[in-house]
Amino acid sequence: MTKGIIISGGWGTRLRPLTCTIPKPLIPIVNKPVIERQILLLRAAGVTEIILAVSVMADVLKNYFKDGRDFGVSIQYTDEKVPMGTAGAIKLAEDYLKDDNFFMLNGDVVLNFDFSQMIKKHEICKGIGLIASKVVEDPSRYGVLIVDEDSSKINKFLEKDDYVPPEGKIVPMPINAGVYLFEPEVFNYIVPAKKVSIEKEVFPKLADEGNLYNFPITGIWKDIGKPEELLEGNIQMMTEILKDSNGQKRNLIDNSLDIDGKALIYPPVAIGKNVILRKNCEIGPNVIIGDNVYIGDNTKIKETLIYDEAYISENVNIEKAIVSDNCVINNYVELKGNNQNLVILASYVQVLDGIKLIASSNGSIKVCHHEVVSEDIKFY
Ligand code: GDD
Ligand code: MG
Repeated sequence: MTKGIIISGGWGTRLRPLTCTIPKPLIPIVNKPVIERQILLLRAAGVTEIILAVSVMADVLKNYFKDGRDFGVSIQYTDEKVPMGTAGAIKLAEDYLKDDNFFMLNGDVVLNFDFSQMIKKHEICKGIGLIASKVVEDPSRYGVLIVDEDSSKINKFLEKDDYVPPEGKIVPMPINAGVYLFEPEVFNYIVPAKKVSIEKEVFPKLADEGNLYNFPITGIWKDIGKPEELLEGNIQMMTEILKDSNGQKRNLIDNSLDIDGKALIYPPVAIGKNVILRKNCEIGPNVIIGDNVYIGDNTKIKETLIYDEAYISENVNIEKAIVSDNCVINNYVELKGNNQNLVILASYVQVLDGIKLIASSNGSIKVCHHEVVSEDIKFY
C-alpha cells in the first residue's frame, strides 16, 4: 500500500510573526490547516497511512492531528531533534516506509490535483522517483527540472542556487512542486544520521542515473513560504473550491452567519462559523474570515485574511492584510497593504482607535503577537 510522509520541520521564518504562535503546518488555507488539505488529498488517492516529519511546535501539531482518526487516516510522527534536511527527515522514517512506494510532500504547498494519477504514471515510468512539476513564469526561487518531453525523464535537477537562466534571461520553466512519489530504493541515496538535502544531494544523482521522472500538474499550486504567497494561495484555493461547487454559489459561507440586512458581500468570500457582520459593512472581494469573528458597522474589508476569534470594530478599513487569531481592531483603524507588502498582525494584537498602518513598496508592516499598537506606522 502506498504510504505518505509530509515534511514540515522548518520554523517558517519568512511567515513570522504569524508562525510565532501558529506552527507553519497549521497555517490556514481557506480555514483549514495547509497540511490538513494535503492529508485529505492523500486520503482521496487511497493513502491512509501518513507520517508527519515535524519538529517545531510538534506538540501543538500532535494535539491537532492526534492519531489521524478524525481525518480518516492513521498518523505517526518522526522524532527529529535537530533539522535533518529534507532527505534526512524522511530517512528517520525508513523502517516504516521501506516496504512499498510512498508519497513525500513539502508541507508548505497549496495544491489540488488527483494524486492517484501520479501513482498511475509512476507505474508506467518505473523510476525510483516521480516529481510533480508546475511551469512558472519566474523559476528562480525553486528547484528547476530539465525534462525530456518524450520520455518524461528528468535529465537534470537544479536546486535554486544552481540554476542559471539562459543568457541571464528569466523564462518560464517546469519547477519542483514539492510532491514526490518514491520507491524505497531512494533511502540508499541518503546517508543516515546526517543532515541531507533531497534537492541538492539526491535528485541530481537520480537524474544522472535516469531514475527520475516528471509529472506535470494542472490547476492551482502555490508555495506559501512568504506572506504575499500565503494570501495568494488562499485566494487561489477559495476560487478553486468555488469552481468545484455547483457553479452558482460564489461565496463559501457557513449557515451560522449572523448578517445585518444592510451588510454587503462581494464575491468571492469565505466565512467560517459563528461570524457576525453588522450593518453597512462591506466584505470582499477576496476575503477569508475564520470562526467566531465580529465585524462592526461600516467596516470595509478586501483582499484580506482574518483568522479565528478576531474582533473588528466600526468604521475600520482593511485591504491587503493578514489579521491573525484573537486580534482586536478598534474604531476608525486603517490597515493598508499593497501587492508586494502586506500589513500582518500576529495573534492577540490590539490596534487602538484611529491608528493607521500603511505599507508601501519598501516594506511590509509586521506586528508581533500580543502587541498593542498605539502609534501610526507608515512606509512611504
Ligand atoms: N522535517 C523537516 N526537517 N522538514 C524540513 C527541513 C528539515 O530539516 N527542512 C525543510 N523542511 C520542510 C519545510 O518545512 C517545508 O515544508 C519543505 O521542507 C520545503 O522547505 P522550504 O524551506 O520551504 O524550501 P523552499 O520552498 O525554499 O524550496 C523547496 O520547495 C520548492 C517548492 O515549494 C524545494 O523543494 C524546491 O526545490 C521546490 O521548488
Ligand atoms: Mg517552501
